[in-house]
Amino acid sequence: MESLLEKWDGESAVARYDRPTGTWMFIAIHSTCLGPAVGGTRMKSYPDPTTALRDALRLAAGMTYKFAVPGMPYGGGKAVLATPPHLDPEARPDLLRRYGALVHQLGGSYRTAPDVGTSSEDMNVVAETGAPYVFARTEAAGGSGSSGPATALGVFTGIQVACEHIFGDADLAGRRVWVQGTGSVGGGLIEHLLEAGARVLFSEVDERAIRHFRDGLGLELVGNEDESAGGMTGASGAASVDAIATECDIFSPCALGGVLSETTIPRLRCKAIVGGANNQLATPEDEGRLQARGILYAPDYVVNVGGAMAGLAMETRGLAREAADREVIESVSRVLKHIFERAESDGITTGAAARRIAEERLAAAG
Ligand code: PHE
Repeated sequence: MESLLEKWDGESAVARYDRPTGTWMFIAIHSTCLGPAVGGTRMKSYPDPTTALRDALRLAAGMTYKFAVPGMPYGGGKAVLATPPHLDPEARPDLLRRYGALVHQLGGSYRTAPDVGTSSEDMNVVAETGAPYVFARTEAAGGSGSSGPATALGVFTGIQVACEHIFGDADLAGRRVWVQGTGSVGGGLIEHLLEAGARVLFSEVDERAIRHFRDGLGLELVGNEDESAGGMTGASGAASVDAIATECDIFSPCALGGVLSETTIPRLRCKAIVGGANNQLATPEDEGRLQARGILYAPDYVVNVGGAMAGLAMETRGLAREAADREVIESVSRVLKHIFERAESDGITTGAAARRIAEERLAAAG
């Protein structure tokens, strides 16, 4: 843990051990240079607390870039609640309240929202002690609700921009799009894609979701992700070795991270990658690997900002959902086009182009 913190380029990290549940709480504040740190609360069990802290530090840095690239006045933060493998459901609300108290203590330098493993309902509970530093409570509780639909809208916009860049045409009619993971982001994305006339393939492990998308909507299921689970990092929803070679125009990872790696990239048969999952690349070198294969990569944090962007716009600027959605479409489209152009003109990867834009903003703010 010492070396993780020594090597990290962020501002501060807070740790608390929650004795009643055996949960490690980590809050990572990567940067408050552009504004208060904002980022979701990830709640899951990890093999050990060090792995949980590493995840928090890395995800918090990602949030700094996520907000800096479109010019939003927020810094990057993230929280991880590393629970034991079987957290008693009855212990959950009190754990969330103790966590909320910790958020409150930070006095607004870190503001939270849902992430993997937490929901808007959970944010209602966190806000009992953590208010006013909690975003995306349920709409009934006065929050902006689930960030999934607006994230899906941003990813959909990103897919249109990628198609325009590759094919000279943003029209998705007849394009093959493989959506990995059909949760609130992937599922919402599929709706937009079908409406636009795309041919959607999907991967999913949940039986109920499979029945809905395959049997109900008649979409093609690719891969059996269960078989690969042991070989992949955690419950990443990563595609099996066979599925990864699925031929498609666009591959859209919308499950957990780490899907694009030294082993999967050589086998990909897509023209572009535009997905909602955070941290899709296993290592920074994977950007170069994708570029070498001629696969256009839309940096994950550039296209998955929609949920945070819309939620923050509604809660801090009082925008109606429709207006917030329009901002997401306009911003993702403008920023992604700029990144694709900059990557070409500067002869760098799209990831490097995104980082340059973010770093210029951070440097300008001092
Ligand atoms: N989990 C969201 C993300 O990674 C964070 C977020 C959601 C922030 C909604 C604000 C509002 O972008």
